[in-house]
Amino acid sequence: MRTDTPQAVRLADYRPFPFTIETTRLVFDLHPSQTRVKAELAVRRTGAKDEPLVLNGERLKLVSVAVDGEGLSANQYVVDAERLTIPDLPDQFVLTTEVEIDPSANKALMGLYMSGGRFCTQCEAEGFRTITYFPDRPDVLSRYSVRIEAGREFTHLLSNGNLVGSGALEDNRFFAEWEDPFPKPCYLFALVAGHLDVLADKFLTMSGREVALRVFVDPGQASRAAYALDSLKRAMKWDEEAFGREYDLDLFMIVAVRDFNFGAMENKGLNIFNSSLLLADPETATDLDYERIEAVVAHEYFHNWTGNRITCRDWFQLCLKEGFTVFRDQSFSADQRGATVQRIKDVRALRARQFAEDAGPLAHPVRPSSYMKIDNFYTATIYEKGSEIIRMLKTILGAEAFRKGSDLYFERHDGQATTVEAFIECFAEASGRDLSDFFGWYEQAGTPAVTIETAYDADAQAVTLTLTQSTAPTPGQPDKKPLPIPIAIGLLSETGAVLRDTEVVLLDRNTLTVRWDNVASEPVLSALRGFSAPVNLSTDARPAERYVLFGSDPDLFNRWEAGQTLARDLILARAAGAPDEVGEERYADALGRALVDDAAEPAFKALLLALPSEPDLALMSEPADPPALHEARNALRTRVAVHLGDLLRRLHGEMQSDAEFSASAEAAGRRALRNACAEVLCSDPHADNLERLTAHFNTGRNMTDAMGGLFPLVTIGGPARDLALSKFHRAWRNEPLVLDKWFAVQGRDPNEDALDRVIALTKHEDFEPTNPNRLRALVSTFANFNPARFHDPSGAGYRFLADQILAVDGFNPMTAARLVEPLGNWRRYKPELGKLMREQLERVAAHPDLSKNVLELATKALG
Ligand code: TRP
Ligand code: ZN
Repeated sequence: MRTDTPQAVRLADYRPFPFTIETTRLVFDLHPSQTRVKAELAVRRTGAKDEPLVLNGERLKLVSVAVDGEGLSANQYVVDAERLTIPDLPDQFVLTTEVEIDPSANKALMGLYMSGGRFCTQCEAEGFRTITYFPDRPDVLSRYSVRIEAGREFTHLLSNGNLVGSGALEDNRFFAEWEDPFPKPCYLFALVAGHLDVLADKFLTMSGREVALRVFVDPGQASRAAYALDSLKRAMKWDEEAFGREYDLDLFMIVAVRDFNFGAMENKGLNIFNSSLLLADPETATDLDYERIEAVVAHEYFHNWTGNRITCRDWFQLCLKEGFTVFRDQSFSADQRGATVQRIKDVRALRARQFAEDAGPLAHPVRPSSYMKIDNFYTATIYEKGSEIIRMLKTILGAEAFRKGSDLYFERHDGQATTVEAFIECFAEASGRDLSDFFGWYEQAGTPAVTIETAYDADAQAVTLTLTQSTAPTPGQPDKKPLPIPIAIGLLSETGAVLRDTEVVLLDRNTLTVRWDNVASEPVLSALRGFSAPVNLSTDARPAERYVLFGSDPDLFNRWEAGQTLARDLILARAAGAPDEVGEERYADALGRALVDDAAEPAFKALLLALPSEPDLALMSEPADPPALHEARNALRTRVAVHLGDLLRRLHGEMQSDAEFSASAEAAGRRALRNACAEVLCSDPHADNLERLTAHFNTGRNMTDAMGGLFPLVTIGGPARDLALSKFHRAWRNEPLVLDKWFAVQGRDPNEDALDRVIALTKHEDFEPTNPNRLRALVSTFANFNPARFHDPSGAGYRFLADQILAVDGFNPMTAARLVEPLGNWRRYKPELGKLMREQLERVAAHPDLSKNVLELATKALG
C-alpha cells in the first residue's frame, strides 16, 4: 500500500548483483497461518569489498539471521519493510535466515498462498521476496535443494527438479526432498503441497531419454487432464523438430490450481496452471478452451528453453522470453490446427488488445526503459507485439537463416541471464545481416501507419507502388523514426486471376517506390499478406477491388481481411448516419457466395461470418460512440440474417454432427461454423429461428454447442434469456469452470438492462471476487466485451468498474490493476463519455491507500 512516492526503475541503472548465490537450501515447515522458511545461501562476493549484502524481503517476520553459523545480533544488520541489509561480510560465507509467513492470509496470490486447501506458489515476477530474504532479480542464478514438511492430509509435496528423498515425521507429518540440478533465478522457484490426483505418462526424447510426465489435479479430476497431457507430448515433440530443443530433466510436472492471477507459470520442471487452462472434457469445456489449453501447455513447456535455460538479465528484457515463447506457441498451434485460421485469430487478438494499447496512454515499447511495477508490464505489447517482431525477423531472414540464428542463441547463451541485444546479435551473425535498424522495433512504441498507392501504366505494362510509413507520437516518444517493415504483396487481375505471386517488399524508410514490369493488366493489390507486419495499412482500393480479394485472393488471410474491411466501412458509415443500403446488400451477397465455396474449410467460413467486433470498430472511429457502433453493427448483422436466412439455416443444420465428440480442429471448425450461423440468426428472432436456437441450446451435447446456443438466447433477451440462464445455472452450479461461463455470458449480454443485471450479479452467492477467474468472467468481460453497455451515457458502467477496482485492490493489486485498462483510453471516446471515464479514473487515483500497481496505471492513463 502507498507509504511513500513510488520510485521508477530504469533500464539505464542496471548493475550486476555484487555477490553470487552458489547454492540455495530451503526448508519449509508448512502450516496454513504460520509457515517457517529456513534458507541457507552459499554466498561469494563478486563485486567490491565494501558492498553490503542487500536482500529483498517483504511481509516476512524475521526469526533469526546467522553468518557461517554465528547468529547476528540486531546491530549487525538492518531490516525494513522491503529489505535486509548486512554490512561487513567476508568474501565467502553461508547466510542462514529463518522467517515466518502466513499463506492463509495471502489473497494477493503472489508468493506462497493457499488455494482450495492446498499450498502453492507464484514467484514471477517478484513474489519470491514474500517467501524468504533473497536477491529477487532474474540475473542471480542459484542451484536449489528444497525440503518440504507438511501434514498427512496432503498426498504430494512438490518442488522443482528431481525427488531425492521422502519419509515420515512425528505428529502425523511427512517430508519430501527435491533437488534441481539447473541453476535458476528465484522467480522460477515453485512449491505445491496438496491432496492431489495424478495423471501419469512418459515421453521418449530425441536422444532416447525417458521423461516421466505427471499432471496433478483435484481428486476425481484426472480424466479431465488428458487433453493437456496429450498437448504436452505433442509440444515436446514439436520443439525437438522445429527448434532442436530437448527436455532436460527426468520429470516434468504440471499442477492445476483454481485461484491464480494469470494463465499459467513455467516454473522449472513444475508448471503451475490456472485450472481453466488445464481441465477439459467435452461436457464442460468449449473448443476455445481446448485450443487455449493446447497453446498454453505448449507455451509454458517452451519456456523451458526460452526463459528457463536462457533467462532475462533484468525485467526490461521480459520480451526476450515472452515474445519469443508466444511466437513459438503460435507456430506450434499453426502446425497443429492450420496456419490461416490460426493467423486470423492471432491477428484479431493482436489488434483488439495490442493495437488498442499502442494507441493510448499506456503505450510502451516492447522493451520499455522504465517501470514502477513490473507486474503491470505483462502486456499485450510485450507478449503479442513481441511475437510479431520475431515473426518479422523470420520473414526478413528466411526460415533457414532464422533457424541458424536460434541455434546459435541456444548454444551461446545456455545457462545465462541475457538481453534482447544479445539475442538479435545471434541472428545478425548467423545471417550476415546488419539488424541495427530492426532493433528499433523493440525501442519504439506505437503502431506504424502504412499507406500504399498504386499506379498502373497500361502502355508500359508496369505498376508503380508508393509505400509510406509514419508513426504517431506516444507518451515520452514525440518523434518517431522509420522502421524496417516487411510487406508481403501480390497482384490479382480484375477477374481474380493471379497476376503476380507474393513478394516481400522491405519498407525501411519513410517512402519507398517499387516498380514492377510485365504486369499484363490493371492490377488489384493484395498487400500485407498473412499480416506480415504489425501495422495499420491503408490503400487506395475501391470496394470493387476489395470484392475481388474477398472472392478470390489466394492468400486466405487477405480474403478474410477484405471481408472485414468491407463490413467495417459499412458499419462505420451507418454509425455516422449515412447507411449504404445497396452496399450492404452487395456485401451480404458476396458473403453468401463465400459460404458456399466447397474449397474453404468450415473454421475459415466461421471467421468470415463474424463481423468486426465492437471494440475493433471503436478503435477505427474517432471519437468512438460505442452504443451507435453497436446499433450499426446489429443492423448489418440483421441484414445478413434476413438476406442469407435460408443459407444460414441450411448450414446450421448441416454442420450438426451426430458422431461422437472429437476435439480435432476439423470437428471444432464445424461446430464453430454452426455457432457462427446461430449468432447471426439471433438478429432475426422470428418464431422459426427462435425455435431453432432454443433447440440448439437444449440439445447441445457438449459445452461448445451449449454456449453456442446460450449466447444467442441471451442476446434475444426476455423469457428466452431467463429460461436458458436458469436452466444452465441449475445444471452447472457445482462446476466452477462452467459457472465462470455463466457469469461471462451475462457480462456480454447486449440488452438494455445488462448493467443492472451485472451489478446485481456481484451480489450473487456464487460471485467470489477473491477468485480471479470468477471476477474476470463478470467484471472484465463486461468492461472489455460489452462496450454498448459499459459506455452507458449515465456513466454508471464506469462507476461500477471503478468500485470493483478499488474493492479488489484491497487484497489483490495485480488483478485490480488489470481492470484499469477499459477506462484508460478515455481520450478516444465522445467527449461526454470521455469526461465521465476520466472522472472515475480520477476517483481511483485519489484513493488514499492505493497499491503501486493501480496507482501507476491510473496515473499514466490520466497523464
Ligand atoms: N510467465 C508466465 C507466462 O507467460 C506468466 C506470468 C507472469 C504469471 N507473471 C505471473 C502468471 C504472475 C501468474 C502470476 O507464461
Ligand atoms: Zn510466458
